[in-house]
Order: sequence, then structure tokens, then C-alpha cells
Amino acid sequence: MNPKTKLPLVGDTIFSEMSALAQQLNAINLGQGFPDYQPDSELLNAVCQAIQQGPNQYAPMTGVPVLRQAIRDKIIAHQGYSYDADTDITVTSGATEALTSSILALIHPGDEVILIDPSYDLYAPVVTLANGAPVRVAMNPPTKDRPRFHLDWNAIADAVTPKTRMLILNFPHNPSGLTLREEDLDALEQISANHDFLILSDEAYEHIVFDGQPHVSPTSRPALASRCVLVSSFAKTLHATGWKIGYCCAPGPLSQEIRKVHQFSVFSVNTPIQAGIASYLKTNHAIQGLSAFYQRKRDRLVQGLSASKLRPLHSEGTFFLLVDTSALGHGLEKDLAIRLTQEAGVATIPVSAFYADPASRNANHQLLRLCFAKQDTTLDAAIEKLVSL
Ligand SMILES: Cc1ncc(COP(=O)(O)O)c(C=O)c1O
Repeated sequence: MNPKTKLPLVGDTIFSEMSALAQQLNAINLGQGFPDYQPDSELLNAVCQAIQQGPNQYAPMTGVPVLRQAIRDKIIAHQGYSYDADTDITVTSGATEALTSSILALIHPGDEVILIDPSYDLYAPVVTLANGAPVRVAMNPPTKDRPRFHLDWNAIADAVTPKTRMLILNFPHNPSGLTLREEDLDALEQISANHDFLILSDEAYEHIVFDGQPHVSPTSRPALASRCVLVSSFAKTLHATGWKIGYCCAPGPLSQEIRKVHQFSVFSVNTPIQAGIASYLKTNHAIQGLSAFYQRKRDRLVQGLSASKLRPLHSEGTFFLLVDTSALGHGLEKDLAIRLTQEAGVATIPVSAFYADPASRNANHQLLRLCFAKQDTTLDAAIEKLVSL
């Protein structure tokens, strides 16, 4: 029997497609966003110890208490907002589940949800599953005079209607590497003062911000925090994307609704890994060095590519770098990404994949995304291939 699809527009993601092509052609994979190195051995030991000595049974539905407390302390140290570990913080199966549970819990049929393009591929389909309506507002793309994406707060304000129930933000931003500034929060405060919508803030890259800049979160302003669901993850922060441990923080009444969905989709999350992470965070300060670690990799890639035809844009955070490929012609970004994998042996991600219609003109700005969460030897090998193009 053929099921009636709820998501007719969803197929295999470009990430899987490019990774499969990279594997088939034995190309270097700078496409999908995960490290090709191990997490800190101290963290591995803490998790192994938790597996060997317990706890190994179901965690509480909301997460292991010591981890929720550690998340609370980490947020106070970095963003200043004081969540209640019992009522406001929920440990989830990655940021993915936190985002999905939040959208399913809080969006009702007909609600409009504003997404900022280019946007992470999860948001629109899950809004559709909740019978909400995604409303896509594009960032201004890079130009010669202003070679970076930037937010158009007037366009965002214009998109708000009485049906707007949620605005989804993602900073530091995948794929552009853009971070928020205090002026962005000023604009957001101004718009939200006159409208009653929630903010879903996906901060999966919160600890990877470069050039001495602080991570700016909407939760740093009490007026925004009161309507905000903060989502993050240990995947990028601890170089452990396969563990799928994330979290979601929101004032009690919002968390209560989100937990209803979380309870019946995953119930609870891997207990010993939660315990291991909590014990690691208590004594280890590796997070503080994370931005510097990735800044060195960003600079290595940018420096290496200076001899190539690819022109790097500035990356302010995340472990992604966008490159302008205009010197290689003006076709669809996806075609170029495939060509680059075949001819140079390096897989990348077309930025057009982060738009509703990747084949449209508005989605193609001759930009590819390169992931630099790779060993220096991997980066150097990729640089050599890209320079010889
Ligand atoms: C912007 C963004 N949000 C969420 C996620 C999902 O994070 P997790 O692996 O913790 O589910 C990712 C992963 O790539 C991401 O880039």
C-alpha cells in the first residue's frame, strides 16, 4: 500500500548526496559538518567510566539532573540568563529533537513561522508536519561592496502578521558563519514589542565564535528570553556529533508543552553519555579553547585558498567557510559542487540547498560551503587539490 505522504517535497538531503558522491569518487569530504578526529580523551574516559559503573538505566524524562545543572551553569557563564534546571531545561536527542519537539509542541494549524533563508533544512518540513505555514525571508546575499550575508530586519518586520507564531533564528549561522550583533537584538526587541510571537533560537554553534567576539544570544535580553526557546547541542561543542545529546531551554510553561512531545517521541536520552558529559564539564574547561581551535583551522583554510580561484568570505563563527566561485563560471551551485567533487576531488555543499527552491535564481549566488572541522592534514590535502583547479 502506498502511504499518502505528509512531506511531498522532502527527499534525500544534499548532505547525504554529496557524502555518497565523495565516497564513490574517493574525494575529500568538506561537505557534511562533522569532525574527522576524536573527542577529548578525558571526555571519552568520563563516558566509559559512566558506562562501566552506571548509571545505565532510563534517565529521567527531562534529563540527568547533574547534566541539567551543568547546562544551567554553562548558560549563566556564557549568556547570563538563569534558567531553572528542574522546570526550564530538557536534555534531548541532539538539537534536532529539541527543534522538532519545540515546533510540534508550539505550532498550531495555520500558524505562520518565519524562517530566514538560507536556513537549516529541518525547519520548514517540521513546520509543515505541525500544519504550520513556513514564511521564508531571505537575508541579503553578499555583494562586491558588502561581501557577507546580512539580515534585513525591515523585511522580517514586514513578514510579521497577526498569524505569526514563531521566528526561527540560527546564530552563529549555518551555512554563512554570520553571528548576531547587539544591534540585531535591538531590532528584534523593537519588532517583538508589538507582536506576540515566540523565538526559536538554534544555537548549535554557540561556542564557536571568532576574532574575540562574544556569542550574542536573544536570551541575553530578559524581554526576549521570556518568549524564547533556546536550543543547543553538545555535538559541535564536544566534537561528538554521533552522540546526539542536545538540550532545549525555555520558561516553565513553554518547556512543559515541549516536554509533552519529547516524552512521547524519545522519552529520555542515553543515560551514561549524559552522566559522562556532566562529569567532564565539571572539571574540564575545553569549551573555552574551542573558538581558538577552530579559528586556527579557519585561518589555515583561508590562507591556503588565497592561491586558488575560490574567494573565501569572512566566517565569524561555526566551522563553515563560504567561498565565492564566480571565477569558475555562473551555473547552478549544485552542478559546480558535483563538478568540483569529480574534477578536484573535494566535496562541498551548495548554499542553494538552504533555500526553498535550490534551482531558483534567488538561491544561487555562486557560493559553496566548506567545513573546516577537519584534521590539518585533511585541510592541507583539500587545499592542494583546490589550488590546482
Ligand atoms: C544549525 C543546526 N542546527 C541543528 C543541528 C543538529 O544538531 P544535532 O546533531 O545536535 O542534532 C545542526 C547540525 O548540523 C545544525 O547545523
